[in-house]
Amino acid sequence: MTQQIVLVTGATGGIGRETALLLARLGYRVFATGRKAELLERLGREAADLALETLALDVNDADSIAAAGAEVERRTDGRGLDVLVNNAGFGLIAPLETIAEADLRGQLETNVVGLVRVTQQFVPAMRRRGSGRIVNVSSVVGRMVLPFQGVYCATKHAVEALSDALRMELGPFGVRVTLVEPGPIKTRFAETSTGSAARYRGPESPYAPAVALYERTVRAWDASSPGPAIVARKIAKVLRRKRPRARYVVPGRFGAAIWAVRLTPTRWVDAIFRRNVGLTPQVLAGPVEPPPTG
Ligand SMILES: NC(=O)c1ccc[n+]([C@@H]2O[C@H](COP(=O)([O-])OP(=O)(O)OC[C@H]3O[C@@H](n4cnc5c(N)ncnc54)[C@H](OP(=O)(O)O)[C@@H]3O)[C@@H](O)[C@H]2O)c1
Repeated sequence: MTQQIVLVTGATGGIGRETALLLARLGYRVFATGRKAELLERLGREAADLALETLALDVNDADSIAAAGAEVERRTDGRGLDVLVNNAGFGLIAPLETIAEADLRGQLETNVVGLVRVTQQFVPAMRRRGSGRIVNVSSVVGRMVLPFQGVYCATKHAVEALSDALRMELGPFGVRVTLVEPGPIKTRFAETSTGSAARYRGPESPYAPAVALYERTVRAWDASSPGPAIVARKIAKVLRRKRPRARYVVPGRFGAAIWAVRLTPTRWVDAIFRRNVGLTPQVLAGPVEPPPTG
């Protein structure tokens, strides 16, 4: 069997890096892509004895995607990819009333537009060949919504809708599309999203005490979360399946949370989430507890 060729976006850290390394160890030829040259170099050194090549690819930059596409074509003698893992993305904590337009657009651009652009670049070779796999890294919040992460949740709901449409459109051409939906995973993700929260809990913000509480909650989730290897293993497992399902929740126990939210009356779900994030008159009227340092 010819060696399967995979490209992973956002492979400079977290889930993407772990997935790229695991797949290379499992015998795939991997293009690990990202936008930070220094981190790509470090990854390349770590994987020196594996079939892992690094490539610059910023999903927000159409030229960078086209250049990566041309490089993959060249290095694979025109064959293209067998597998595309759309993983690059990030989260934000920001109340919708006050979210800055740059933050709003940045989330949509990276998590949604970027994913579509990268897919458009690499699908034609798969379609012409009549085979291929696309794994889109969504989130459990692609199927439920948390306050203060409304835009992030919207991007992941968009990823779910796009993946469902792609799966139907590409099915007749032999290209299978699968969603992997992680729950909280210990990566740089929490640091990035809590970093944005700091911009939304200033003294002028009516949401400040609740945003600060939510920030602490996200850090606590992060502290008790599994590392990215669990997601990498799930992606590897999905790729081994002849007929993968449309979506996989990881860790699996979060599947129960999705169903619990679905089956519970919305009014109750709202009340539980509001209480958890401090969207109550008492918390909102109280002091802004500073997040713990370190
Ligand atoms: N960790 C979680 O709890 C969790 C839960 C559910 C879903 N997810 C999803 O899992 C995916 C990976 O996140 P992670 O947890 O591994 O977080 P992470 O450690 O922050 O890694 C995110 C990766 O995406 C890259 N990235 C961001 N913007 C990019 C761009 N414009 N072009 C190329 N790469 C870009 C980052 O590169 P830079 O270093 O250049 O920013 C980094 O390599 C994301 O789609 C995230 O939404 C994560």
